[in-house]
Amino acid sequence: MLKSDQTQFTRHENINLMSFPSDFKDNYAASPRRRPRVFRKLRERVKELTVLHKASRLFQKAPQKLRQTLRRLVNILPAGWQYPEIASAQIRYGNSVFSTDNFKETPWKQIVEFSTRNGKQGSIQIAYLEERPPEKEGPFLSEERALLNSLAHMLQSHIEQRIYQLLLRKNNASLEKKVAERTRQLTRLNQELTREAARSERGELRLKAFRNKLRKLLARTTKQEEQQRRTIAANLHDTIGQALAAMKMKLLSLHGEAIFYGLEQEIDDIRTLLEKTIKSTRSLTSEISSPIIYELELSSSIPWLIEKFSDKHHIQVSFNTAGDLTKISEQIRLTVFRGCRELLNNVARHAKASKISVTLLRDREKLFLKVEDNGLGFSVNEWKRKVLREDSFGLFNVREQILELGGTLDIESVPGSGTSVIATLSLQEKGKAANDKKNSDCR
Ligand SMILES: Nc1ncnc2c1ncn2[C@@H]1O[C@H](COP(=O)(O)OP(=O)(O)OP(=O)(O)O)[C@@H](O)[C@H]1O
Ligand SMILES: [Mg+2]
Repeated sequence: MLKSDQTQFTRHENINLMSFPSDFKDNYAASPRRRPRVFRKLRERVKELTVLHKASRLFQKAPQKLRQTLRRLVNILPAGWQYPEIASAQIRYGNSVFSTDNFKETPWKQIVEFSTRNGKQGSIQIAYLEERPPEKEGPFLSEERALLNSLAHMLQSHIEQRIYQLLLRKNNASLEKKVAERTRQLTRLNQELTREAARSERGELRLKAFRNKLRKLLARTTKQEEQQRRTIAANLHDTIGQALAAMKMKLLSLHGEAIFYGLEQEIDDIRTLLEKTIKSTRSLTSEISSPIIYELELSSSIPWLIEKFSDKHHIQVSFNTAGDLTKISEQIRLTVFRGCRELLNNVARHAKASKISVTLLRDREKLFLKVEDNGLGFSVNEWKRKVLREDSFGLFNVREQILELGGTLDIESVPGSGTSVIATLSLQEKGKAANDKKNSDCR
């Protein structure tokens, strides 16, 4: 912003300054007398242009410090004026002052003031050390006023450009600092997340390994229990059962003598007692381990189980079946049988139900067992939370055995609304399905 009370700098003036005097051609051609004047004018313009050119080169290749630029600029200026030998110059900017060595305050001076956007004031002053004939502005030419204004304008633009560059550099530096800080934070966060992910992955792997081990242990324990049951049942049958049968034979052979001695009633009582004992031993034997479980297909063993259960607990159980239940591996048959037995026992123990429905279906690849009751129901989420803390083991064991075979167990129960448990087992080779399931299931 120029503040000279003299002519303001305009683009138009700048163009005038750069052009030849308009009357040059006519004057030069028309009057040889006028030629020295025209040449003088031309020389003046050349001097002015040279100063402008030097100043603009200085601004383009400006040294790092503004004060160095201003010091060089002030020494370029006098050469552009009509009387350079008596011209001195001074540039003020903010609190700094730069002068040519010969500078002096005199009455023959020409000044332009300017201010920059950061609020600082500046000025450029040309002072003649001696008086010279009057021209347009004191001893100064109108072209010199235009030159001075142009120089002030160039200087002002140059300083503002420096200010912007400085600001830009500062902003860039603070931006770079912020970006660097943010990058550091993100890197740290990323490292923490990676560590956390590795930790939880390790934990998950450990948990999976633990579950697999647990299932294997359960399978082994169940197998051992099954073997023990078979041994006990065989012992019961072979020793106590056989002995009781032998006793009964012996008793029958004593029947004649008993009548003779008048002990017929006592012998009859003993026989009745013996028959009851034989019956309950048989029932105990089959309860502990019935050959039916191993020998019969599910289409027979499940109805047999239901009938015994219904007789014992006096609960109405309906049975529905569909599909071919033959040619199912012993492992799956045993798991389904044991599962169904546990689910029925749970209804008897916990549900207070009046009706149970058992459904056994087979399609090409899958076997479905559904046990449904109309009893009290329970909270499945609560059970999941407590399953590892409490002594309840039956349902957990059923689920683990089914998962071990690559199947699923879905329990639907709402307190007060009955319970429905659906086991789904794949009839394909255990291999892939079981592994997939084992690795993914952590329900
Ligand atoms: N059909 C059902 N109706 C109502 N509650 C049930 C039913 N089945 C299971 N429950 C509830 O779920 C719990 C867990 O059953 P789970 O078979 O695991 O254990 P349990 O029968 O109590 O003991 P056990 O280890 O001897 O089987 C039971 O204690 C019971 O509260
Ligand atoms: Mg149970």
